[in-house]
Amino acid sequence: MMMIKIKPLVLLLVLSCTWVLTVATSDSAYPTISDCGMEELVPVRREVYGNGRIFDISHSFREDMPSWDSVDGLGQFLRLRHSIKNGSLANVSELKYFSVHSGTHVDAPGHVFDHYFDAGFDVDTLDLELLNGPALLVDVPRDKNITAEVMKSLNIPKGIRRVIFRTLNTDRRLMWKKEFDTSFAGLMKDGAEWLVENTDIKLIGTDYLSVAAYVEAIPSHLVLLEARDIILVESLKLDHIQPGIYSLHCLPLRLPGAEGSPARCILIK
Ligand SMILES: *[C@@H]1O[C@H](CO)[C@@H](O)[C@H](O)[C@H]1NC(C)=O
Ligand SMILES: *[C@@H]1O[C@H](CO)[C@@H](O)[C@H](O)[C@H]1NC(C)=O
Ligand SMILES: *[C@@H]1O[C@H](CO)[C@@H](O)[C@H](O)[C@H]1NC(C)=O
Repeated sequence: MMMIKIKPLVLLLVLSCTWVLTVATSDSAYPTISDCGMEELVPVRREVYGNGRIFDISHSFREDMPSWDSVDGLGQFLRLRHSIKNGSLANVSELKYFSVHSGTHVDAPGHVFDHYFDAGFDVDTLDLELLNGPALLVDVPRDKNITAEVMKSLNIPKGIRRVIFRTLNTDRRLMWKKEFDTSFAGLMKDGAEWLVENTDIKLIGTDYLSVAAYVEAIPSHLVLLEARDIILVESLKLDHIQPGIYSLHCLPLRLPGAEGSPARCILIK
């Protein structure tokens, strides 16, 4: 008896919630906040915004995200310092110590040059003009690291200042695996030299924790960062995006003294 009376009400609630969800997912800042009760408070996490025009190419931080030379992943990076449940007026989370070269991040010249570090060439000195502008997303051959020969074969025209290299790392989903994998693809030293000498590229993005292959990580970084005119963007999330020209927007945190910083990076079609 009771059941029969309650059912239409429940149905009505479900319907009205569905309606709120459908309307709200289009473009509002907080897409799924509905007034249908606690069960309906399910935020939507998106990879694509603006009707398929805006791609989030930053990785969402995860405890099991890979971390340089670690088998255990990043680990806990956030904790609730003050909480409403425990009597505070607000919830306040805090970040715990973790490498600034975690997740999607940029490198500043101080990363591999001690005298640049001492002189203050940190992420706060990186050029926002370079971090924001037209960029070319290219697929590189999957059977090699990015050598001089590969760089040459890509035929990247002069005048292109920002290039994102998508490699085998994306196919292998390396950023989704907890254990750091030294076999990731990246620039070899001769590829870095070729890029510096023969192209106008000043921003380099790739899809794992270093733009440079593991075996030549330091020599390649030295080549790329020596003139302090190239910005490196690492661990980009490039799945399901067509190669081509986009507007890149990359905003690292403003951290004086830090030779790297997590960054939010997006591509706009
Ligand atoms: C955080 O705050 C909200 C209210 O704004 C509260 O409902 C929730 O329980 C709090 N979370 C924790 C973990 O205390
Ligand atoms: C609340 O306080 C208790 C006791 O100090 C602690 O164990 C618990 O983790 C706290 N919970 C939150 C959500 O801060
Ligand atoms: C790239 O170099 C790494 C070593 O840094 C190696 O393990 C890997 O097999 C190379 N990748 C390709 C596709 O040759």
